[in-house]
Order: sequence, then C-alpha cells, then structure tokens
Amino acid sequence: MKILVTGGAGYIGSVLTAKLLDSGHEVIVLDSLVNGNFEAVDSRARFVSGDIADIGVLKSIFEENSGIDAVAHLAGFIEVSESVKDPEKYLNNNYEKPKVLISEMLSAGVKNIIFSSTAAVYGIPQTDLITEEHVTQPINAYGESKLKLEQYLDEQKVNGLNAVSLRFFNASGATANHGEMHNPETHLIPSLIKCIAEGKDAYVFGTDYGTKDGSALRDYVHVEDIADAHLLLLEKMKIGEKLESAYNIGSGTGFTVLEVVTTLEKVTGKKLSIKNAARREGDPAKLVASIERIKKLGWIPKRTNLEEIISTAWNWHSKNAVR
Ligand SMILES: NC(=O)c1ccc[n+]([C@@H]2O[C@H](COP(=O)([O-])OP(=O)(O)OC[C@H]3O[C@@H](n4cnc5c(N)ncnc54)[C@H](O)[C@@H]3O)[C@@H](O)[C@H]2O)c1
Repeated sequence: MKILVTGGAGYIGSVLTAKLLDSGHEVIVLDSLVNGNFEAVDSRARFVSGDIADIGVLKSIFEENSGIDAVAHLAGFIEVSESVKDPEKYLNNNYEKPKVLISEMLSAGVKNIIFSSTAAVYGIPQTDLITEEHVTQPINAYGESKLKLEQYLDEQKVNGLNAVSLRFFNASGATANHGEMHNPETHLIPSLIKCIAEGKDAYVFGTDYGTKDGSALRDYVHVEDIADAHLLLLEKMKIGEKLESAYNIGSGTGFTVLEVVTTLEKVTGKKLSIKNAARREGDPAKLVASIERIKKLGWIPKRTNLEEIISTAWNWHSKNAVR
C-alpha cells in the first residue's frame, strides 16, 4: 500500500513509518517539524516538509503520488496543560487544520483515513475500564479538539470518507531506532528518565488516590503495538471490511506512578529522588482502556510487561542523548 503519514517526524509517527516500510509499504511523510525531528524520519520514506493545512503542499503530494491508499493522520499538538492555557491553538491545529487535509484527500479520491485520537475524549472516567461507549466529555481543549475531529470524520462519511479513530491511552516505550523525545516532556516515563539523566527531583502528583499505593493509575501501551494496530486496520480498510468509528488502543491494564518509578529504578539500577506533590486538577485516579472491541479484529497488545516497556524506552534514551 501507499500511505501518507502526517506527523511522521514525531514519536509515534516515526515508529509507524519505519514499521510500514519494513512491511513493504510505500510511505510519504508530511510534517511541518513544528515539534518533530527530521532525523527521526526513516530515510526510505519520502519526506515532505509542510503544514497539514497548506493546500499547495497537499495538492502536490496527491498529484505526485497517485494511488495513495490511506492517510494515517498523527500530526497534532499533544500537551494537555498547554491546551488549557491556549485552547484556540489546539482547536486550530487539531480540528480546523485537518479539515483542509480531509477536503484535499477527498478531492484526490483518497477515501481512507486513520486518525490518532486519545483517551482524553472521555474526560473523567465513570467506570474502571473505559469502553468506546463511555460518555465523551473532555475536560480540556486537547480532548475537545480530538473529539470534534472524530465527529467531523463521521460527518464526512456521506462524502465517501472511510474513517477510523484510534483512541490511544499512554503511548510508551521505543524501538531500537525510534523513541519518545517531546519538548517539553510531559509524559511520565521519559520525564523520569530525564530526571535520572539530569540528577533532578521527580514529582509524584497525588499520593492519596484510591489506588493500591495512592498514586495515579494509567494504561501504558507500547508504541510498536500502536503501529501494529495501524497496520491491521489499514489492511482491513483496503479490503473494505466494515469497521467501527472508534477503537481504544491500550494495554487493558494499569500501572501506578509509583510502580513505574520502582520498575524504572530496577531497569536502570539508578535511584530516583522522589518528591510528593498535590494532585493536579483534572487528573483522574485511574484511566484504563477496555480493548475488547479492537481485540475482535485480531489485535492484541504484545508488549504489556512494564519492565519490557521501560527497558525499550531506557535503551533508546541511553543511545540518544537526552536533550
Ligand atoms: N503520545 C501519546 O501518548 C499520545 C496519546 C494519545 C494520542 N496521541 C496522539 O498521537 C499523535 C502523535 O503523538 P506523538 O506523541 O507522536 O506526538 P509528537 O509531537 O511527537 O508528533 C506530532 C508530530 O506532528 C507534527 N505536527 C504538528 N502539527 C502539525 C501541522 N499542523 N502540520 C504538520 N505537522 C504537524 C509535529 O511536528 C510532530 O512531528 C498526536 O496526534 C497525539 O495527539 C498521542
């Protein structure tokens, strides 16, 4: 297949690009490099530097690469706290801009799109395991921007669009060549690794939640498992299999912040300097996916062991100096 990957210079997009190429697919990456790294893009991919809402860039991509089978749309802003401070930035980049991409892909006759959505569309969970039927009430502009795009994708089905939204929980881990390096880093595992590398204190926000050790519980899904889910769904879209509009992509189990800390210390042989801090507003006690829906399609997460997840992240960070 020929796939356009937006955001392919970012964390998940760079892993997906390499995996698609390894599986014999052709990949065009579109990324403005607003946050990604050019060096993260597999050299076998065709790289286009540009914005997902730049009509000229989009037209030339679709003209020069006829027969694109699908778009994997990962480009977006990802920082929840920034979205609270500047909601317009998120609604623009994560909701308004992709509409231009969708319009241009439909004009070019490209009908299939897989969208990187998020568990943040659910808001505060009302059940221990969150199914796709759980009410969607995002509590920040990041989640809202993603939910609005999911809804827009559904509306575009009347125009022939074939869209699937994948609601990732906490993407984590690395491959030998690609890993997580956001700036600023807000995700737990790379943040803790940074604390080790820089000899800084690590903060545990909230130690009085109703979890086994009082710290918040999250669902960590390995980035390679996320890439595998894309590969599976792309194949199913190609043959026209009937799919649901949204699928959770998680491991289906949760680990607390303190479990992550202990496991990281075990994997690295290094001790973290932990400081307890107050809960952060809007941080739920538990966020764990029900993955029954996607399992029915034949996907199961293969890398669910926390030690394995953290080892892959640590190995990658050890070889790629922490910036
Ligand atoms: N990392 C996670 O845990 C997680 C969880 C849930 C959902 N997601 C979603 O998955 C996607 C990828 O996440 P990531 O962690 O790889 O993020 P990332 O920041 O590493 O990658 C995003 C990429 O998109 C590019 N980009 C942003 N806006 C763009 C635009 N307007 N035009 C072109 N390129 C643009 C950036 O330069 C960057 O390379 C995002 O859409 C994110 O919301 C991520």
